[in-house]
Amino acid sequence: MQGKDGEQLTLDLDNIPKHIAIIMDGNGRWAKKRGLPRVAGHRAGMKTVKEITRAADDIGVKALTLYAFSTENWKRPKDEVEYLMRLPQEYLLTELKELIEQNVQVRMLGNKDQLPDYTIKAVLEAQEKTKNNTGLILNFALNYGSRDEMLHAIRCIADEVKKGNLDVEGITEKAMERHLFTVGLPDPDLLIRTSGEVRLSNFMLWQLAYSELYFSEVYWPDFNRDEFYKAIYEYQHRNRRYGGV
Ligand code: IPE
Ligand code: IPE
Ligand code: MG
Repeated sequence: MQGKDGEQLTLDLDNIPKHIAIIMDGNGRWAKKRGLPRVAGHRAGMKTVKEITRAADDIGVKALTLYAFSTENWKRPKDEVEYLMRLPQEYLLTELKELIEQNVQVRMLGNKDQLPDYTIKAVLEAQEKTKNNTGLILNFALNYGSRDEMLHAIRCIADEVKKGNLDVEGITEKAMERHLFTVGLPDPDLLIRTSGEVRLSNFMLWQLAYSELYFSEVYWPDFNRDEFYKAIYEYQHRNRRYGGV
């Protein structure tokens, strides 16, 4: 991999982030720049998902969480929402076999209730068929919103307290984490957002408390293995202090 000035960048394989979360942004602008409809950008972005999944797996990343559809994305035109809801099915139809061969475990974060049957069916099938795999955990954040996730957790905790199964003192960070969609996963070490936007857009607000943030100008369909490794290279040169010295 080469840096800005053409120098060789080498990754330290002993310091690979265990969990990487990505806000895959810029599909619409990528398409617009080419005079194409926005959905063409989403289609092109699907190829990047495949490339980055392999790139992560190749260097031993344990978990990759991809923000595919937010609880706010329902505001988009009906046709675009429908297209986005069809993508998991299409992606898994072409990729599931290879994901199984790669020992990848597919999971989903988000509220399943509002998703169309065909979307949920595809995701559940992939989850079921890969549940015993022990390699990379590939999480799709679909109809995911961090505030929605936290409210869900708080309601579950309130219910436990009401039923007398939990004391108020038992409302700890651990208790909260037990009820988040990410239960069992470590917090992301690194968050990447593509397309030049510098915000979190309601993504993993709890889990990103101490993550390193990396913003790339590249639109998601143009993001690739090299850009991904550049982000990890920068991560490896950060000093994570967690409030200490
Ligand atoms: C990211 O690309 C994909 C989703 C949010 C589903 P966008 O569709 O947000 O692309 P831009 O930001 O409009 O370019
Ligand atoms: C965030 O991107 C959601 C996903 C990538 C799925 P958006 O494009 O929806 O975010 P905003 O609207 O620019 O904040
Ligand atoms: Mg966007």
